[in-house]
Amino acid sequence: MRITTFAAILYLLCSTTQANEHTTQDLILLTRYANLTANAESFVCKGGCRGSEADGCAATRDFIVGGQCLADDDGVWVRYLFSADFGLCVTRYRDPTCTAIISEDCGLSERCVDGWLQYELFRDYCVESSSPTREFVYPFVYSTTHRSATNCTRKDPPTVEDLRLGSDQICVATNIPMSDGSYGPGSIISACQSDNSHVVTFYSDTSCSTQDGVLAPTYRRPFDQCTPGVTEETRHRMYTVECGSPIAHCKMPTGNSFITDRHASEAEGRLGVMNLAVVTLSSVLMSLWFL
Ligand SMILES: *[C@@H]1O[C@H](CO)[C@@H](O)[C@H](O)[C@H]1NC(C)=O
Ligand SMILES: *[C@@H]1O[C@H](CO)[C@@H](O)[C@H](O)[C@H]1NC(C)=O
Repeated sequence: MRITTFAAILYLLCSTTQANEHTTQDLILLTRYANLTANAESFVCKGGCRGSEADGCAATRDFIVGGQCLADDDGVWVRYLFSADFGLCVTRYRDPTCTAIISEDCGLSERCVDGWLQYELFRDYCVESSSPTREFVYPFVYSTTHRSATNCTRKDPPTVEDLRLGSDQICVATNIPMSDGSYGPGSIISACQSDNSHVVTFYSDTSCSTQDGVLAPTYRRPFDQCTPGVTEETRHRMYTVECGSPIAHCKMPTGNSFITDRHASEAEGRLGVMNLAVVTLSSVLMSLWFL
């Protein structure tokens, strides 16, 4: 009897531990200095990592969860992984399970790469869990890109995965559509709603405070539906946003000026307080246009 009770308790303890244990992962903040007044081909800021807004440049930011095998481009997958020996590595693969290596670039932390990219590493800031766990409360939500509506509705392998830690507290400078038909420097806040739809709010300045002349103040993607991009560049591509199934939950890196509590809201529901955004490296270019 005692043994049975003991066994039952042990079983309970073990299963509880298992349920609570999730693999932790690093959060990688990718900052790129983009010329938001330029066209897509030339939007690397000439001032590089010292580019300033006075030159038409802005720091645009994305977040990546370490260890994920992500669709990066047609036929290319990518994984970001930190190790003590090699620092932060970006490895590209030719298969969706990330086994056949194409190229590897290591030691990327804190460096200005190719004159306009910077990585910042937040060790163990995420857990691979679809629900909030302990202090890891901000969901990691991704959008999946397909070349055609058929590919999208059939859920074919994605062309590009935009991993986006969306949040109503994270303001991301980007290129936005204006009501006069042009695209110009602006910013977005991207967040999942309690009905699992995905809403992007556009601003006409790079710090999410004014909305003068924006084409539409908000853009909503219904849950699990394929919707086209809204820029000239991307309207032929189809997007879905997986608000209902975050791949991870993370802590928020604090002390960054682009993270504010300006929009802190209780009304937005389960995912509304914060969700973050991540993009893979080649979708970095796209992400400026994908909305
Ligand atoms: C930004 O792009 C515009 C238009 O192509 C160009 O005139 C300007 O020199 C660029 N500025 C920087 C700092 O790259
Ligand atoms: C997309 O659809 C086309 C036409 O049906 C098909 O040939 C192609 O393989 C699909 N792409 C992927 C990645 O599955």
